[in-house]
Amino acid sequence: MPTNPNAGPRILLALTGGIAAYKSAELARRFVKAGCDVQVVMTASAQRFIGAQTFQALTGKPVRASLWDEAAEAAMGHIELARWPDAIVIAPATANTLAKITHGLADDLLTTLVLATDKLIFVAPAMNRLMWANAATQANMATLRARGVRVIGPGSGEQACGEVGEGRVAEPEDVAKAVLGALARSTASPAIDGPLSGRRAVVTAGPTREPIDPVRFITNRSSGKQGYAVAAALRALGAQVTLVSGPVNLPTPAGVTRVDCETALDMLDATQAACATADLLVGTAAVADYRCVEIASQKIKKQRDTLELQLVKNADILTEVRAAQPQLFIVGFAAETERLAEHARGKLVRKKLDLIAANWVGDGRAFDRDDNQLTVYWAEGEQAIGPADKADIARQLAALIAERLLAAPRAPAAARRPARKRTP
Ligand code: CTP
Repeated sequence: MPTNPNAGPRILLALTGGIAAYKSAELARRFVKAGCDVQVVMTASAQRFIGAQTFQALTGKPVRASLWDEAAEAAMGHIELARWPDAIVIAPATANTLAKITHGLADDLLTTLVLATDKLIFVAPAMNRLMWANAATQANMATLRARGVRVIGPGSGEQACGEVGEGRVAEPEDVAKAVLGALARSTASPAIDGPLSGRRAVVTAGPTREPIDPVRFITNRSSGKQGYAVAAALRALGAQVTLVSGPVNLPTPAGVTRVDCETALDMLDATQAACATADLLVGTAAVADYRCVEIASQKIKKQRDTLELQLVKNADILTEVRAAQPQLFIVGFAAETERLAEHARGKLVRKKLDLIAANWVGDGRAFDRDDNQLTVYWAEGEQAIGPADKADIARQLAALIAERLLAAPRAPAAARRPARKRTP
């Protein structure tokens, strides 16, 4: 089910008839995990390859498949449906559907929607290598590109028909990245003039929830207040901010893009995706260090006097992101109940951070309250911030982050981007 159906972009995911249709289940899952509201549309041929039920379960919405479905049309007519999404993503897109949309045909629900929309359209072609190389297909693709349709892939390699060549559908991970990246750029909030203008920041915030069974989970006392305040303060300094948030009860700060997640693994995925185009990561989240080895599929009954849960360590998000991105400016937090400076400096070195903001926790300090007090450490120095309310602490911390980031000899991610490997 979507974690937050109203916060993320709306995506109309359309499947056409090809063996690669099974990969779109993973694509739907990725969109939902990234906080998108997803509506799936299938052509009649797509339904011969994969069942509509799969997508209904993944998105929480019945699949739309026909122009003549009276109940679905009464709930949302096809013209309304064409205007509903932020993007239409056709994956896999067969040669036939690509030809039809090139020529403006509207003989089924999908082609009608494409003709009736003014939203971004992405296609992930999937076909035999000779069909892809055919002059007719190539001319169609040139026309679609010229009209602004974004083409993702295809890749090259072994094909379902046994041949080897170009025409394999792009991997779900690459399609999701291309779509979400383009949407983030097109919906970016208006620029604010400040020291972080033109910089992209990612902030993790709140607790994570690690499920035990369908009704129970392990979590912690984090309210997300400090992280949300940091996101707002970075935004006020001009940064474009993505807030990767665990379950909290807080409004999204104005101008900030929020991605909701639940478990530490979800948060890792969302943070890695958001950091791919970022300059700065601030890890304020209280990520669960461990998760259950097995999640019971049914509610655990209280039959025994004792209950043992076996836990396994979660990956450290900051460490994983650092390994992938040596250039990123990373700020960690350290929540400590003893030996604050020693533990914080240990984490600064171990996690290869640029700054670490340490605070005392326990005995009613920091967690789930409105005020806080920090000591920020970096290789050559330290600075105390507060005590003050969390918004004030966040403003002082954001100013220090901006100062240290701008002192470091790094080009903004936007300027570095052309040198990076891009999704085709
Ligand atoms: N952190 C993370 N991923 C984890 C655990 C922590 O990214 N799986 C980040 C937190 O967001 C914070 C920093 O690492 O910025 C330190 O978190 P903290 O809970 O203080 O320390 P841990 O690394 O979990 O170590 P310990 O629990 O042993 O103190």
